Amino acid sequence: MKARSVKTFAPATISNIGPGFDVLGIAINRPGDSVLAGRRRESGVSLTVKTNYPNVPLDARRNVAGHVASLMVEEFKLPFGVDLVLYKRMPIGSGLGSSAASGVASALAVNALLPKPISKPDLLPFVLEGERLACGAPHADNAAPSLLGGACLIRSYNPLDVVSIPTVSSIIWVVVHPCLTVETRKARSVLPKTVPLRSAVHQWGNVGGLTVGLATGNARLVGKCIEDIIIEPRRARLIPGFRAVKDAALHAGALGCSISGSGPSVFSVASSPRAARAIATAMVNAFLRVASVRCDVYISRINQNGARISGIQHR
Ligand code: HSE
Repeated sequence: MKARSVKTFAPATISNIGPGFDVLGIAINRPGDSVLAGRRRESGVSLTVKTNYPNVPLDARRNVAGHVASLMVEEFKLPFGVDLVLYKRMPIGSGLGSSAASGVASALAVNALLPKPISKPDLLPFVLEGERLACGAPHADNAAPSLLGGACLIRSYNPLDVVSIPTVSSIIWVVVHPCLTVETRKARSVLPKTVPLRSAVHQWGNVGGLTVGLATGNARLVGKCIEDIIIEPRRARLIPGFRAVKDAALHAGALGCSISGSGPSVFSVASSPRAARAIATAMVNAFLRVASVRCDVYISRINQNGARISGIQHR
């Protein structure tokens, strides 16, 4: 039976996970964006945005959810148009994979309206075009885990090859989002164009170790490998209080701490829910003390399922 309208949820993500710039990411349980997509007779895509956050593009062509839906409507030559409602529950420029979550939620919803829906992994190229619109770079380290869940390694971009890392869910992830904006485009513009071989060797040692730590549920190894000597030093200065927040997290027992995505969110790794709460408090207090900035806190294990359909109506 054909679906008339579909509602989806796509989770936030921690991308890079320290050393894995553009190649590593995990999905967490919340926050996340939702999209309601319905068929309509007129062609094209309409967009309504429901949000408490500023600066979310309202024009379907400039909004990631609208853009991804339009690309799919064109690609599959749909004989109908799509009305989209985006429930935007995280701010833009947060380091939580906000644009990816909008794109993923939209792609999954439109997919369910197709006469022959395609597989989740095949939706990824559409979502990456949304990422290109949002920041100029079709990076997949937020999009893949938000769509597929779990931990993802982008083994190659050309051709695109995403490897799901099997994970043991013994690790607790603490994400502290200071109410500030760092545009991904800007945070990418401060990065070096070349990297000394010695730094690359150090970094890929940590990426390998992190992958093993995730797969074996070894929180200590994961924490030790959350060391980013290439990207973090450049981006730290875009986040007021970052050094103090990281010191506070490590002092409170975090096994590792770095910037989530392109910031300003900062994440830590903990080995128990109790430790996670203490680390979150220390990080929030440090942001307040040093930068006078208020924070949202998310404590989560890895979300294994990624984006999902939360409601469907048939004709
Ligand atoms: N890998 C991307 C970056 C993630 O660090 O720019 C952006 O959310």
